[in-house]
Amino acid sequence: MTHKRKKISVVGAGFVGSTCAHWAAARELGDVVLLDINEGAAKGKALDLYESSPVEQFDSRIWGSNNYQDAANSDVVIITAGLPRKPGMSRDDLLATNAKIMKEVCEGIKKNAPQAVLIVVSNPLDAMAYVAKQVTGFPRERVIGMAGVLDTARFRTFISEALNVSIKDVQAIVLGGHGDTMVPMPRHCSVGGVPLTEMIEPAQLEAIIQRTRQGGAEIVNLLKTGSAYYAPAASAVQMAEAILKDQKRILPCAVELQGEYGARNLFVGVLAKLGGGGMEKVIELKLNDNEKKMLENSMKAVEELVTALGKIQY
Ligand code: NAI
Ligand code: 2OP
Repeated sequence: MTHKRKKISVVGAGFVGSTCAHWAAARELGDVVLLDINEGAAKGKALDLYESSPVEQFDSRIWGSNNYQDAANSDVVIITAGLPRKPGMSRDDLLATNAKIMKEVCEGIKKNAPQAVLIVVSNPLDAMAYVAKQVTGFPRERVIGMAGVLDTARFRTFISEALNVSIKDVQAIVLGGHGDTMVPMPRHCSVGGVPLTEMIEPAQLEAIIQRTRQGGAEIVNLLKTGSAYYAPAASAVQMAEAILKDQKRILPCAVELQGEYGARNLFVGVLAKLGGGGMEKVIELKLNDNEKKMLENSMKAVEELVTALGKIQY
């Protein structure tokens, strides 16, 4: 009997990438390759993590490399290569540098793992997902950006803390681009099945929404030398797990819209079904006028980024 274990490549062995490798191995999602331009960092972190397997009791092989041939036959590739934010920087300040890095990474992946599903994490997220789609030419089902799961996780954390209820009973949705214009959707949030708006004072909800929008900057301002990585990595790995195990999870992801919400060829955070085929379906919500306005505003911000990309040589 032949059995093929799943394979996950993680590009970028920095804080987010190495933490993705950690979560993925600990959950035994498959074998893990850590790729980085910095060969020593990729090999060293991978070996260190691999050597934790007897203690942690996971059966995943893990190795590091600076050669994209090692990504061959990957089922999922998580791309975290690129610079993170420093205090005072917006995600958009990273545009030119990270577009060049994304192009180089995607050329390597396209050549060596042409069947993989890509989960893009590098910032500015919606623009980097767009670059990944352009460079690889993969169908939209196989190029998915990670932002909504993280933004929603932050929203859910703050709701659970404010109401003193289990995080397991808090459902929430954040749509739109991964930036200050993101659109938390209180009307679509619930606590144990009860609409959130019936459980919380409007002023407290508004404060939570603002904190969610600033969630990335809050961590950058505390760390001072980089940006968040535990929750971002957990979020990317949840998406990878949904795909690797064909779970058909309904998760907010950055997806190339093809007519949904009136937009085309633009990566925007929407609710999507993730399974063995990658992004299997966009679930379009019925928005009220205010929600529509906020989403349009967020899409405009993503459009501006894509226009700026067009003026850059990458
Ligand atoms: P980091 O600086 O710790 O790691 C980045 C890694 O990329 C480094 O190891 C570096 O050597 C590698 N790298 C640079 N150029 C490369 C190339 N050409 N090929 C391969 N590897 C290359 O940064 P961190 O904290 O891991 O963040 C990574 C990216 O993820 C950043 O752009 C950050 O803004 C983004 N991010 C996005 C989130 C989201 O919600 N979408 C959340 C958190 C971070
Ligand atoms: C975050 O939201 C920096 O995009 C990253 O933490």
